[in-house]
Amino acid sequence: MGKPQGGMGKKDVIRVILVDDIPEAREGLRKLLAFEPDIEVVGSGSTGREGLDLAIRTQPDIILMDINMPDMDGINATEQISKAVPTAAVVMMSVHKDSAYLRRAMLAGARDFLEKPISGEELYSTIRKVYQLNANVREQYRQGATSASPERTKATTSGALGSKRAGHIIAVYSPQGGVGKTTLATNVAAGLMREDTRVLLIDCDLEFGDLAVFLYLQSNLSVVDLGKAVEELDPDLIENVLMTHASGLRVLLGPARLDDVDETNLLTPEVFEQIVQHLAANFDFTILDMRVRLDRLAARLFNLADRILLVGTPTLPTVKSCRQVLEVLDGEFGPEKTIFVMNRVTDPREKIGLPLEDIERSLKRQIEARIPLDEKTMTSAVNQGVPVVAKGRGKSPAKEIIDLAELVRRSVQGDESTPMQSSAAGKQERSRFGRRSGG
Ligand SMILES: Nc1ncnc2c1ncn2[C@@H]1O[C@H](COP(=O)(O)OP(=O)(O)O)[C@@H](O)[C@H]1O
Ligand SMILES: [Mg+2]
Repeated sequence: MGKPQGGMGKKDVIRVILVDDIPEAREGLRKLLAFEPDIEVVGSGSTGREGLDLAIRTQPDIILMDINMPDMDGINATEQISKAVPTAAVVMMSVHKDSAYLRRAMLAGARDFLEKPISGEELYSTIRKVYQLNANVREQYRQGATSASPERTKATTSGALGSKRAGHIIAVYSPQGGVGKTTLATNVAAGLMREDTRVLLIDCDLEFGDLAVFLYLQSNLSVVDLGKAVEELDPDLIENVLMTHASGLRVLLGPARLDDVDETNLLTPEVFEQIVQHLAANFDFTILDMRVRLDRLAARLFNLADRILLVGTPTLPTVKSCRQVLEVLDGEFGPEKTIFVMNRVTDPREKIGLPLEDIERSLKRQIEARIPLDEKTMTSAVNQGVPVVAKGRGKSPAKEIIDLAELVRRSVQGDESTPMQSSAAGKQERSRFGRRSGG
């Protein structure tokens, strides 16, 4: 069970501190953890304040924190710790699986929650999961991003479809499934289209991509066919592979059958990146409908993108996972690159979702676009294979989506008018992550 990987030494041990006012509870946890070779308890405290002091002193990876304690309670301590020791992840422990508690804890910055009594298995898996989300993702991320090709060829690549274009790339991402990535990618793409603006939409989910369904498109050709020919992407081949939606939107689909996914062995993240770069040079906007997984492909696509639309919904899982993702993205690219979008927003008077101000406060992040919940419009649009914005542009939710598309347009045009005119030069600097690597 969870042995540290051979030869990697001490740094793979997960350092944990325990904070609970009941000595038996601390002892119980310590005993459970004593059997795990990859987990080390580096301190324990009996109050929120002790927990905070310990966290600052020992800089642990994980803090197991009781909610109810004398002096500073666990929620308060969590809030302080997430400011003072942002690399430490707090896992809250409580006898109540009370949703009000859970909500407060998550908003305070807790990464996960364990209900007492806590079983060994639950404890180990939560610690390892939170540790991985917190540390490994970042590491993996940095590797993927730094090895990405430093220079963008956009706007300089000779246009396979003829004319060279601005080549802005917009990634639509969420760490959660079913929150509306594909819906927003499709609709923002449609919203950006104008007579003089060419837009391409790319399905980046090679296994379970939904774009074909969303737009009612069918084809035997897909990105796999471009992958096979990546050495020399022929304009005729591209023309054949890109689908054209009735609206004029061009679309690059993923493989139609799961069988084809085997062939996607050819489609390494590097090849996929090359295809995106090549195609993007021929469009004003290329919208990437991404999948949840934060892997090497995601890292490369984020690096390539001019803007990332991070999609959430007003729920606790959003608070939890967007916090992690924002930390990584802001760390790598700075906060300007990411536009935080809330989908499925309801009237605050209905008290259905989490209040947006609470989310903003907790994540220290402004929500820049709010798309209302509208089951009827969204679902019927999907069933008919037309983007929502294709109908009634002036009405909700099309109106808010168009506003979002305009926000995207303005924000990348803002980049163009800054002194760093040459986008390639800007990119090069960013992709080395100067701020991080101390360069
Ligand atoms: N604002 C919204 N209001 C109501 N339903 C929505 C909204 N946005 C998306 N949906 C619906 O939610 C489901 C999941 O959306 P989808 O875009 O496929 O999410 P993802 O790509 O993140 O998995 C779809 O059925 C879609 O129609
Ligand atoms: Mg999707």
